[in-house]
Amino acid sequence: MKIAIIGGGPAGLYAAILLKKQRPSADITVYERNRPDDTFGFGVVFSDATLDNFEKYDLPSYRRITQEFAYWDDIAVHFRGTVHRVGGNGFCGCSRRTLLAILQERARELGVTLQFQVDIDNEALFADADLVLLSDGINSRFREKHVEHFQPEVDLRANKFAWMGSTKPLDAFTFIFQETEWGPFIAHAYQYEAGHSTWIFETDPETFARAGLTGLDERQSADRMQEIFGWFLGDHKLLINRSMWRNFPMIRNKRWVKDNMVLLGDAKSTAHFSIGSGTKLAMEDAIALADAMQRAPNIAAALELYEHGRREEVEKTQHAADVSLVWFEHVDRFWDFDPVQFAFGVMTRSKAITYDNLTLRAPDFVAEVDKAFARQVRAKGFDVDVEKPVAPMFQPFKLREMTVANRAVLSPMCMYSADEGVPGDFHFVHYGSRAIGGAGLLFTEMTCVSRDARITPGCAGLWNDAQETAWKRIVDFVHANSQAKFALQLGHAGRKGATKLMWDGMDRPLEQGGWEVVSASPLPYFPDSQVPRELDRADMDRIKAEFVAAAERGERCGFDMLELHCAHGYLLASFISPLTNKRTDEYGGSLENRLRFPLEVFAELRAAWPTHKPMSVRISATDWAEGGITGDEAVLIARAFGEAGVDLVDVSTGQTVREAQPVYGRMFQTPFSDQVRNEAHVATMCVGNITSADQVNTILAAGRADLVALGRPHLVDPAFTMKAAAWYGADVFCPPQYLPGKEQIFRNSVRDREDFEELKIKAKPKTRAELRAETANPLAAE
Ligand SMILES: Cc1cc2nc3c(=O)[nH]c(=O)nc-3n(C[C@H](O)[C@H](O)[C@H](O)COP(=O)(O)OP(=O)(O)OC[C@H]3O[C@@H](n4cnc5c(N)ncnc54)[C@H](O)[C@@H]3O)c2cc1C
Ligand SMILES: Cc1cc2nc3c(=O)[nH]c(=O)nc-3n(C[C@H](O)[C@H](O)[C@H](O)COP(=O)(O)O)c2cc1C
Repeated sequence: MKIAIIGGGPAGLYAAILLKKQRPSADITVYERNRPDDTFGFGVVFSDATLDNFEKYDLPSYRRITQEFAYWDDIAVHFRGTVHRVGGNGFCGCSRRTLLAILQERARELGVTLQFQVDIDNEALFADADLVLLSDGINSRFREKHVEHFQPEVDLRANKFAWMGSTKPLDAFTFIFQETEWGPFIAHAYQYEAGHSTWIFETDPETFARAGLTGLDERQSADRMQEIFGWFLGDHKLLINRSMWRNFPMIRNKRWVKDNMVLLGDAKSTAHFSIGSGTKLAMEDAIALADAMQRAPNIAAALELYEHGRREEVEKTQHAADVSLVWFEHVDRFWDFDPVQFAFGVMTRSKAITYDNLTLRAPDFVAEVDKAFARQVRAKGFDVDVEKPVAPMFQPFKLREMTVANRAVLSPMCMYSADEGVPGDFHFVHYGSRAIGGAGLLFTEMTCVSRDARITPGCAGLWNDAQETAWKRIVDFVHANSQAKFALQLGHAGRKGATKLMWDGMDRPLEQGGWEVVSASPLPYFPDSQVPRELDRADMDRIKAEFVAAAERGERCGFDMLELHCAHGYLLASFISPLTNKRTDEYGGSLENRLRFPLEVFAELRAAWPTHKPMSVRISATDWAEGGITGDEAVLIARAFGEAGVDLVDVSTGQTVREAQPVYGRMFQTPFSDQVRNEAHVATMCVGNITSADQVNTILAAGRADLVALGRPHLVDPAFTMKAAAWYGADVFCPPQYLPGKEQIFRNSVRDREDFEELKIKAKPKTRAELRAETANPLAAE
């Protein structure tokens, strides 16, 4: 077998090694345009998990690599004169030059042919090869040559960055967030061998220009960085080696394989340097390809297996890298944060690390985070313990004169079980049990302001006395038997009205018994949905009056808070999104016009609703669709409602149009809450695939929301909050009838938690840094 490898970086060399081990008789040649020791860059970094992989696949190179490594366990965050260190991260680094030398030596030893200073420009040279690896790096010539086939997507990010080096020793992966007269600069730095560290500098394009970096040469810009970070670098000079400022390209390819040619490493997919995974991805691509070659009966099948088997893993790493790079791009959002909360945000930015996980690894750090959170709560007038504070989830929160005892919220959830809009026994038990279960705040399901405002025939309403009486009974029970506060969500279905119950076909039009539907514009939801009638002025006035009448009924029921539903493609949302609003009057066109009717409704409600009671608005912060609402627009929407007197923005997303393409995942809507809260400076509630109290605490402690709503988790677990309180040892109200149950779970939880933590600590393999420390000091292991 003949294998040609274009590009002798980590991907190409490691693939050569693994394939040659599998097929000693194969003719494998690596073509590299540079000289053997001609490498750019300074260090590369690997996690312990990646090294475990290397150990499994090629022991000799693993041994040599790890002999050369610098290890560290801590991440240190420097911000506004403070430094916070978190241990247990298990990373190591080595010089890129050394890594490549080791891989070259190992490849040679196995009989791979290495040809240097050969710049390949035509793959036809390898017409006789069985397999051609395109591992020619980030600017891959061959990816571009076959652009129509591979269909690369190159997303050039806005921030500027440059790789530099230094002789400064570092004992931790070090982030320095530096305020300057021009704006924020960030250094990502780590030691990769004795006496050498990598320094990646990053800043936004405006700060870059203001700092006069445009047009400076490598040395001049290194001198500028030296001025900025000199207080930390001391006498250690910054070193340069192709240290040009660039914009990071996030690269993805629709196809990875063309005939017998296959993309590997940076040519195929990149991951932002802030998660230190570029070289890891490249070498793990080589592993995946070698695995596929081992398992498949022929090359075509192996390439297909490689592409299909590896894609998900690569996309996961790229997603984590995307989330991380977005955090760094928007670091100014958090610039006013308490430093320890800021550091917590750095640590938890890409979802892999959470509040509980950090509590195990760095309990003192999390204790500081809790204290900072409690101090903020105290500053709002609450008499909370700041020395031994409870976890953020159990800190109280105030909106106008309404205080919620904790931050867990029952999200509004249609039960589709009302009879002519009247909530019945199901609703009584549903809301009553979640209130007793300890949630600080409950939202009603979307409660419709008129019969024709309903989504389905099973939707609850508040337009007549029977409904008012039924809701009042539920509100009274909640208030009498729990400390939960109760918010009424009012809405109008718009073009999604006259549809079936969820379990009969969500959003599908009723075949019988429907009613006329209205919307901002006459656009049906499904092609076969009813075409809505465009609202005219008289309709708008009537609907506004219906909202006000329902709010007045809500006040008589005793609800504590009112939410206006402007999300999910319902009537008010249909005005806000340009995808559903095609009007040419003063209610269509610009965002200001599209917001006009929802703001009119909000203003009338605010005037009718008692001043001491808060109001929220639910928005879809993105339509997840081309041409629709984006996070940036959501900030403007939140600001507009903020100016109109909204107390809380309930940040949901999507459900506007059928062709939306949401990117689901854990806590997938939280970044929008983060953006709205920290750019529009309004209180927010986030929601969406948040399933554990650990996630709730992570979100709150990092300042990404003020309240956290859970929908589906509450459907199966009314006592979600009570159980979490027991776990974290926080108090929560419980009616006397249930006290024995509460006492038991609180008692058991202390032991369960200790057992769980012990198990987790035992199960966690020691990081290489820990093992090395033990070898240096054998007593440390005992
Ligand atoms: C300055 C710098 C510093 C970096 N530091 C880190 C770090 O600290 N940690 C980390 O994880 N990642 C780091 N990266 C990213 C990392 O280098 C890449 O993610 C990784 O090297 C990808 O490996 P690769 O083999 O796919 O590509 P590369 O390492 O880029 O290798 C591609 C090779 O192909 C050769 N080549 C290209 N075209 C041709 C051709 N037509 N003919 C012959 N040869 C060709 C190139 O000369 C190059 O040697 C850094 C990148 C840069 C630019
Ligand atoms: C069955 C069901 C009914 C819902 N009804 C409403 C509703 O009436 N009003 C509303 O604003 N959102 C409604 N939602 C959305 C939820 O409030 C919540 O935003 C969504 O379920 C995501 O949160 P989760 O992942 O915690 O479930 C509903 C969701 C589901 C699954």
